[in-house]
Amino acid sequence: MTSFAPTDDGHADLSSHDSFLAGAPHNTFARLRREEPLAWSEMDGGRGFWSVTRHHDILELNRNFELLSSAQGIRMEDQTREEYLARRTFQETDPPEHSRTRVLVAKAFSKPVVAQFEIQIKEICDSILDAAIESGSFDAVKDVARQLPMRMLGRILGTPERDLDWLVEKGDQLIANADPEFTKHVVDRADTDAYRLMPFRSPAGAELFDYAKALMREKDKRGETGGVLHLILQPDMHGNVISELEFRNFFCLLVAAGNDTTRYSIAASLYALANRPELLAELRNGDAQLWETAPDEFIRWASPTMHFRRTATRDFDLHGKQVKAGDKVLLWFVSANRDEMAFDDPFELNLKRTPNRHVAFGQGGPHICLGMWLARLEVKILLQELVKRIGAIEQTGPHEFLRSNFIGGIKRLPVKIHH
Ligand code: HEM
Repeated sequence: MTSFAPTDDGHADLSSHDSFLAGAPHNTFARLRREEPLAWSEMDGGRGFWSVTRHHDILELNRNFELLSSAQGIRMEDQTREEYLARRTFQETDPPEHSRTRVLVAKAFSKPVVAQFEIQIKEICDSILDAAIESGSFDAVKDVARQLPMRMLGRILGTPERDLDWLVEKGDQLIANADPEFTKHVVDRADTDAYRLMPFRSPAGAELFDYAKALMREKDKRGETGGVLHLILQPDMHGNVISELEFRNFFCLLVAAGNDTTRYSIAASLYALANRPELLAELRNGDAQLWETAPDEFIRWASPTMHFRRTATRDFDLHGKQVKAGDKVLLWFVSANRDEMAFDDPFELNLKRTPNRHVAFGQGGPHICLGMWLARLEVKILLQELVKRIGAIEQTGPHEFLRSNFIGGIKRLPVKIHH
């Protein structure tokens, strides 16, 4: 049986993307949770940061937006005020400003609205799986996991079918900005200064800006006014409308957030099914209750969005250390989801896990993932359709992880299907 145990030496440098090349350094997170639940890391070429690694602390701190603010950047990198203002979306604001914008689009991503996409998601899954399975051997990430999220998001946003592959490529360039496989402008290796006012410091941001503008022009011409992209442009309860820049940043956020995270949850699920055939059998025989709990367990185990950053608004003490106002504080959701104090046997998949208080979606905080119902439904339907079609899935070569300390996931997984 393949071991899901991590292999790092327990002292990985969390500021380095290279520390995540073999997957998240879970021995390091386990040691930090045990010995140093609030830990300081230095960062090359920038200000250091605090890491919070325990489930309990992350839940507490994530809800305390008055103490730990999102309004000075949410990534590990430092941002000047100018960069922050140029790149921010409502994700980089705090309540009440955040709530006023979020409410405009919240309903469009709510559980009952997303449930109406079930048939469309199934249709997309049918076509992706039929094509891949017919070929017998394929890359489970490129040919399956990578295909679904943008095809569905494209339908929600009303982007033409012909643009979807391009949008996936641009989404990858944005969010996988530390992996040379996906971008020429590797954020910690190339000089990205020219793009510092663009989302993710990436030139793909500029292309997506132009695309969003042209898309809205087309929609206006057709008299289309009801979609998600129009909702975010409505005045809030105080009559304020987001700026054009914020709108385009929101578009980039959706293309980035809606693309990779669900992909890497599916990729992790397929890796697990290939390496633990008993999970496949369990899904195949699963009742409705199992299909309620299994997607969240795969997402907990995958934890693709490994951290988000906050900034301390005032000095505070935690675990005997003093955080100073202005310090960067990282909430490592990926570590919380393996916390032995919160989960029995956290490194194993228990598809019936109930309750499952994972924080992969940033649970507890005001920024809890907007797309979580969509992601859950996509993972569920893809797996339901897969298990109907196959006898077994075999991993036929080594898998590879994305080079990133922000988004964690398997980017290559060669497999063969057995009927
Ligand atoms: C398994 C898949 C996904 C995971 C693990 C995930 C994870 C997260 C996390 C951890 C946050 C909280 C950010 C914070 O605390 O600052 C978040 C926020 C967000 N997510 Fe997701 N996400 C997923 C899928 C999606 C999808 C499919 C979409 C869009 C279609 C999406 C759109 C967003 C947006 C817009 C926010 C910002 C919400 C706000 O600031 O109020 N996500 N996501």
